[in-house]
Amino acid sequence: MYHAEMPVIGTAEAWRCAARGFLAQGIPPEAILWNSDGTAPDLFASQARPPPNGDIQVPRGFVALADKVVWHSDPSRFSRLYAFLWRLRAERGLMSDRGDADLARLRQMEKAVSRCQHKMKAFVRFRELGNADAPRRSFATWFEPTHHTVEPTATFFARRFADMDWRILTPDVAAIFEGGELRFEPGHPRPELPQDASEQLWITYFRNIFNPARLKVQAMQSEMPKKYWKNMPEAAAIPELIATAPARARAMAEAAPTLPPLRAARVQARLPEANPHWQGPAAELPAAINSCTRCPLHGPATQAVPGEGPTDADLMIVGEQPGDQEDLVGRPFVGPAGQLFDQLATEAGLPREAAYVTNVVKHFKFLPRGRKRLHQQPNGSEIRHCQVWLRAELDQVRPKLILALGATAAEALLGSGKHILQRRGTIERRVDGTPVLITLHPSYLLRVPDRYLRERATEDLRADLRLAADWLVQRETLIEP
Ligand code: URA
Repeated sequence: MYHAEMPVIGTAEAWRCAARGFLAQGIPPEAILWNSDGTAPDLFASQARPPPNGDIQVPRGFVALADKVVWHSDPSRFSRLYAFLWRLRAERGLMSDRGDADLARLRQMEKAVSRCQHKMKAFVRFRELGNADAPRRSFATWFEPTHHTVEPTATFFARRFADMDWRILTPDVAAIFEGGELRFEPGHPRPELPQDASEQLWITYFRNIFNPARLKVQAMQSEMPKKYWKNMPEAAAIPELIATAPARARAMAEAAPTLPPLRAARVQARLPEANPHWQGPAAELPAAINSCTRCPLHGPATQAVPGEGPTDADLMIVGEQPGDQEDLVGRPFVGPAGQLFDQLATEAGLPREAAYVTNVVKHFKFLPRGRKRLHQQPNGSEIRHCQVWLRAELDQVRPKLILALGATAAEALLGSGKHILQRRGTIERRVDGTPVLITLHPSYLLRVPDRYLRERATEDLRADLRLAADWLVQRETLIEP
């Protein structure tokens, strides 16, 4: 009897070498005991060596198959492969015999390993180790793959994360990438790893891509099996997302775009006549807004505040006008209302950086009171004078969805700013067809004196922001025909 001890590290190479040696010496499958408990790569070497000239001919398809199957967790994998290889010598065409039970089992194992590699690429979550003195950033992760996939998958991570040091720790093997060199070491028990800031990012990202109307719990669990959840930060959000999915899907269906009221359509249609169309080059728009003197608001204001964000954003967020801090800094939504909005939007999976953020009126309208400047709501004439800039921004960005914060935004975008509390959470269309989701202005939340009403309003805004996030993920499938 021959014994072939397969190492945990370098298994593929060791199996190939041993199999060629046994085959060259004509040793039949039943005379070999394959073992994978040890770590020494060449225990078998005294019993079977590869032939000196290495001229064993093996179909290329089998080499690729064996290169996957050796990483399967089934202890019989080595003997199955060798038995099949033994048969291949005499049975030409065996590799393409779909009815062969041995080949079918090996193909199953090959598939299982590929699937496990795919899961590993998708579900490994690195945590930063935070060693400030190290020349490269350093990360580690604990992962428990179903099969022995660390070694064959490590090159993927080496390519993807070539500029950092990392280690993937598993019960069997550790893959360590340091200074651009990849090596493998025996595995060890689960270590304590630091929490890190990227966990919140993962949760936000997951909330963002989670589509409540498409939730199929079983399919989701088969795609992201529960065994991986404990090492994935975003999995913490799954129970809540599943529990709230039916209500969120209902809200999306109810918020399907409605036609704007007739009067609003007339007002919107007239607006372009009242305003010239700004037709300068896109890059000059902020400067053009900055030099605007179309209404008296430019006088006391420090500067105009143009919109900001990607000009190809799917979402455009429209507020009322810059506040005290925005006027000083020259950027929209940086004061208390903006900070509250950013927090709620991020929680809802709508990161502000991905949206184009602007205001209906570009100059701060205020009443001086000692050292304070008290916010004043813009009137219809000021809104109309500023339409030229909002339209230019809309033309430039061509958003898929507009989020109208409060009455002034609803008025400028839809022709009516009335009954916001009833209209919030619904989507109306502009005359050009662009959907506008109406919601509360964050500064309303800061002003409501009653705690209970404030909490309710915050919940409402939060729900509308989630609706916007869902709608954007979903627009081609549920709402847009
Ligand atoms: N409120 C707004 O409507 N816009 C801002 O930019 C800040 C506060």
